[in-house]
Amino acid sequence: MFAIDDRDLDGVILDCGGGASGFVAEARAMGARALAADPLYAHGAAVLADRLSAGLDQGNAMINANADRFVWEWYGSPERRQKMRRDARSEFLADIRRHPDSYLAAGLPHLPLADESVDLVLCSHLLFTWAGRLDREWHRTAITEMSRVSRGEVRIFPLVRLGDGESVDFFDALQADLRAEGLVCAVREVPYEFQRGADHMLTVGKAKGGLL
Ligand SMILES: C[S@@+](CC[C@H](N)C(=O)[O-])C[C@H]1O[C@@H](n2cnc3c(N)ncnc32)[C@H](O)[C@@H]1O
Repeated sequence: MFAIDDRDLDGVILDCGGGASGFVAEARAMGARALAADPLYAHGAAVLADRLSAGLDQGNAMINANADRFVWEWYGSPERRQKMRRDARSEFLADIRRHPDSYLAAGLPHLPLADESVDLVLCSHLLFTWAGRLDREWHRTAITEMSRVSRGEVRIFPLVRLGDGESVDFFDALQADLRAEGLVCAVREVPYEFQRGADHMLTVGKAKGGLL
């Protein structure tokens, strides 16, 4: 989703809106330093274990009911995707029990982290995905906050809404808002597509040397 390379894994990575993904656990196993932030983590591992099973079932049901909106080249098959999601959930639950300090119970647009305290911020399936509920101003403040804590880039995936896979009507205006704050935005293709047409991420960084 984020075209991560070895250089990215050298720095500290924040997975914002990390949910029950196995990213922090997997990054840790690769020797990287990663942490995640999500309001969900306030519930603690035991409650999460119960809730996540129901969440996976709901997600699978939604995908089955809207099969034409998804492509299977990356996962291979619905069964393989379900296994990967179950494995990710298990890795997540084991990791949050072992390393609770890596999981911050916090939500955008406020992160309890110092300015430029991480090297890279990743955010998947929150911004743009929920653009029906979260407006342009919320997106602007959320991205500004993620940029504040990052020494490097913020990467956001995907760039389309969940329900209909359509692009977000305020996308260009939002980029103009961010540029006006001195941030540099770019849209990059990534080697992952599941929701049909959702194969680009937005990168947001700080302008170097004050030149835009
Ligand atoms: C659809 S899930 C995506 C989880 C994960 N990023 C992934 O792609 O598998 C959206 C996540 O965003 C979290 N979330 C909701 N509001 C948030 C906020 N204000 N700040 C950070 N995360 C939030 C939810 O708790 C949920 O875990």
